Amino acid sequence: MVRLILDSSSGGYPVLIGTDLGRELRDIVTRLNPTGAAIVTDGNARPHANKVAKAIKRAGLKTTIYAMPAGERSKSMHQLEGVLGFLERQEIDRGGCVIAVGGGTVGDLAGFAAAVWQRGVRLVAVPTTLLAMVDSSIGGKTGVNGRRAKNAVGAFWQPSAVVSDLEALETLPAPNFRDAFAEVVKYAVAMDRGLFDLLQRNAPRLLERDLSMLERVVFRCVAAKALVVAKDERDRGPRAILNYGHTAGHALEAATGFRVSHGRAVAFGMRVAARIALSLELCSRRTVDSQDALLEALELPDTHPRAEPDRVIATIALDKKARRGKVAWVMPRRIGHAEIGHTVPAALVRRVVTRALA
Ligand SMILES: NC(=O)c1ccc[n+]([C@@H]2O[C@H](COP(=O)([O-])OP(=O)(O)OC[C@H]3O[C@@H](n4cnc5c(N)ncnc54)[C@H](O)[C@@H]3O)[C@@H](O)[C@H]2O)c1
Ligand SMILES: [Zn+2]
Repeated sequence: MVRLILDSSSGGYPVLIGTDLGRELRDIVTRLNPTGAAIVTDGNARPHANKVAKAIKRAGLKTTIYAMPAGERSKSMHQLEGVLGFLERQEIDRGGCVIAVGGGTVGDLAGFAAAVWQRGVRLVAVPTTLLAMVDSSIGGKTGVNGRRAKNAVGAFWQPSAVVSDLEALETLPAPNFRDAFAEVVKYAVAMDRGLFDLLQRNAPRLLERDLSMLERVVFRCVAAKALVVAKDERDRGPRAILNYGHTAGHALEAATGFRVSHGRAVAFGMRVAARIALSLELCSRRTVDSQDALLEALELPDTHPRAEPDRVIATIALDKKARRGKVAWVMPRRIGHAEIGHTVPAALVRRVVTRALA
């Protein structure tokens, strides 16, 4: 097991990564000493929630489980009401806590419920997907989707602890597991050369879900994300580095009506960003090739999703991270180091995106 202590404006909190963490979870909850605890999960993560409930019962705390339907559609105002109603019925007061057991969908929804219930109760995150372990459980962003836009309603709310039991990954469907490696490669290329080397050397072991290798990888991703979040908790500046690959990636997702998964889209977005950087002489051909090879090794191949280049390009121009009409690109300079805030000539974006979709 590895343990990190992350800094936040509301105090430090531990992140535990390992296997068989029932006892650690029980100790954490015992120390929080809540007046009550409510577990929020979804249909697929339910077995893991049962395990959590059992572990906490040994701490003398009775818990009940609220299981929402699995899937992004549950990240809604409607389900938020469902969770808040549950907290009310469980008589969770200001001294209580919410335990979120699931992927990013459960984490975002339950985290937001914790942020607003009684103007904020404590939150323990128990991520059960690789994406939630390396990304969504870290950084304090919570929320639900609006009718039109993703994550339209939300709050920053830091957890009191994050407990990532890697054994949960054994039941994860293969596409979801593989997709999360796009975010892992993102950290490696944008921030952590050592992580990149580790991934390069161990791609097959990782794909076989070797838990000790996954422990090292999740640890490095959490450390990378924590570093930028500590500098910029409210996402006003340096945190934008985490957007590497997401400018063209989000556009591809939107332009295909979300038929392309987030991970595949981010892999596409990183390929586009690196090629733009190469054209602007910001990085070398070797950087582009190494990134390509790693994505390939992690089974995020360059199979061209069918999408209309014009629609993708138009969507990039609407990027929500644009400042004063200019899209700010994150550009890799070399493996392990990217820079935020680059503007790119529209003609170059057009050329690279069109070629990437050909
Ligand atoms: N808050 C943030 O900073 C942040 C960052 C990135 C992504 N997100 C959000 O995260 C969400 C995506 O997260 P995700 O990929 O974890 O999706 P998810 O939570 O929808 O989980 C994917 C699927 O796996 C199932 N599942 C979860 N754990 C399982 C397990 N251990 N075994 C078997 N099945 C399991 C889920 O029920 C679901 O069907 C999106 O809503 C996205 O907006 C948030
Ligand atoms: Zn992402």
